[in-house]
Amino acid sequence: MSAACWRRAGTSFTTANREKTAALSHFEPDTLLITPGALKKERRSFNEAAIDHCAAGSWFHEAGRAAVEEEIRPLLDGNALTWERFYAAYQRIVRRIVFGDAARDDERITELRDKLRSDGNWFMLHRKRHRLRTELFVRCRRYIDLPEPGGLARAVRAIPATAEIKPVAQMQHWFFAFDAAPISDYLTLGLLACRPEQSARARTDPAYLRACVLEAQRLWPTTLVLARDTTAETQWPGGWTLPAGAAVISCSPFFHRDARRFPYADRFEPEVWLDGRAEAEWSIAPFSHGPAKCLGKETVLSTSATLLTGLLGNGWRITSSHRLGADRPLPRTADHTSLRFAAGKRAVENR
Ligand code: HEM
Repeated sequence: MSAACWRRAGTSFTTANREKTAALSHFEPDTLLITPGALKKERRSFNEAAIDHCAAGSWFHEAGRAAVEEEIRPLLDGNALTWERFYAAYQRIVRRIVFGDAARDDERITELRDKLRSDGNWFMLHRKRHRLRTELFVRCRRYIDLPEPGGLARAVRAIPATAEIKPVAQMQHWFFAFDAAPISDYLTLGLLACRPEQSARARTDPAYLRACVLEAQRLWPTTLVLARDTTAETQWPGGWTLPAGAAVISCSPFFHRDARRFPYADRFEPEVWLDGRAEAEWSIAPFSHGPAKCLGKETVLSTSATLLTGLLGNGWRITSSHRLGADRPLPRTADHTSLRFAAGKRAVENR
């Protein structure tokens, strides 16, 4: 597929691909990503306006930063860092950013999302669990209706929305999509633990740290496929014609590691995000490109930067078996859940 073809995605493709709709409608029916037709524009404007509240310098940004700093503090206690501890802390951060501080300990809302999301893995083959979905939506609505809502719930309350927008459904996507961030952040921590010079630079250079997170997303993208359905008969180079309604997928783990095109394919090379090499490639798209590109990218990257800046000072070393070192090509898949870290000398001295 050529870059020109992919660029046509705005006009002759829809993100409301059949399979994606079947998966997401278990827990976020009516969300922007699976909204077809003209309503998509209206819902995208609402999403944009709400998520923009997190821009640097805003009240939301500062509240998010405070949430991250508070929640990672217990992880700096000198004990081993495991995926379970890291993930639990991250879930508290996500609930605080999306629903406000009042949701910090609302583990039930996370459990509901996760149950329905695992139903989504079965696409149209799993029955819809309407009772659970109603419970999820009611809990979410409660945070918007608080006398003083926090997090993005506060933005949702402030932005005028028609009934068609369905703000609670839009929020489910923010809640769900944030779940990919702990994976790439934990892997970034692992990559940096094996590279002391790059780690030292990441601690003091925010642009470089951000590039490290993007690079972890290139190496192990958390969105495995970008799926579209054609909305009109579509011609492809080489004389192929696809009928309207055909599914087209771009498989990120394949394109991101295309060693025929990228000499850095299997290396950790954050510089490619600083010198324009990665951005120039249509096929490197951890946050997608074009009219459906991720609206949460900046929120995710600033959350990740605050979190990793706080953690990197501990000088972690990896104590589990891994293949993240710089001495050989990085593996095509990485099991973040088995990574364990021990606090380095610096952390022990600071206790
Ligand atoms: C590491 C975390 C995340 C990653 C890797 C990610 C990646 C993506 C990707 C690849 C898409 C496009 C999907 C497609 O083309 O089919 C997307 C769409 C979207 N993302 Fe994210 N995302 C993340 C977190 C977030 C967060 C936290 C939010 C909200 C606060 C968010 C909001 C959105 C929205 C609203 C869309 C739909 C855009 C549209 O359909 O017009 N994302 N994201």
